[in-house]
Amino acid sequence: MHDVDIRAATATDHPFLVDMLVEAVNWLPERNWSRERILADPALAHYVTGWMRPDDIGVVAAEPAGRPVGAAWLRHLTAADPGYGYVSDDVPELTIGVVESWRGRGVGRMLLRAVLEAARARGIRRVSLSVERANVAAGFYATEGFRTVESFENADTMVADILA
Ligand SMILES: CC(C)(COP(=O)(O)OP(=O)(O)OC[C@H]1O[C@@H](n2cnc3c(N)ncnc32)[C@H](O)[C@@H]1OP(=O)(O)O)[C@@H](O)C(=O)NCCC(=O)NCCS
Repeated sequence: MHDVDIRAATATDHPFLVDMLVEAVNWLPERNWSRERILADPALAHYVTGWMRPDDIGVVAAEPAGRPVGAAWLRHLTAADPGYGYVSDDVPELTIGVVESWRGRGVGRMLLRAVLEAARARGIRRVSLSVERANVAAGFYATEGFRTVESFENADTMVADILA
């Protein structure tokens, strides 16, 4: 894709990562949770709180003019404060979102590959995520090497071995 560049995320991307967390939560159109509601929910806010920490890894897709159109990031959450896709303290969890008007054009796949490459470069072996089973993103993750390791009522935890 020629009209989008992928760059490393920085601390100044925090507001955009919040935007993309809002997109990820609201993948179901009728959900429509507000930014305030999401940031007030500790189980969701901890994906972005204090961004960026030394062990955070993120990438941003941006138009040539610099306007961000999507982001993917990995955060280490711990057993004391686990994410929905928690499997182990040494396995960071993925969050990904693309601005709605940019979806279905390959940006998400570019972001996912780029953030996994950045993780590999940091010596990370496994990456996890949680996806609600009805979300088409589940099939997308499977095509990029994620497999389901645990299933809950509506959601699956998926893991990819990225150094294998
Ligand atoms: C999931 C998301 C990040 C994917 O980004 P994207 O830029 O739309 O994805 P791409 O265009 O790179 O497509 C990647 C794959 O996703 C799947 N996909 C994307 N849109 C789809 C659709 N409308 N229907 C079915 N499959 C779809 C396809 O498998 C596609 O691969 P293909 O084009 O080779 O067939 C993006 O759609 C999004 O932000 N969705 C809302 C937030 C969300 O669900 N986040 C994840 C929460 S777990």
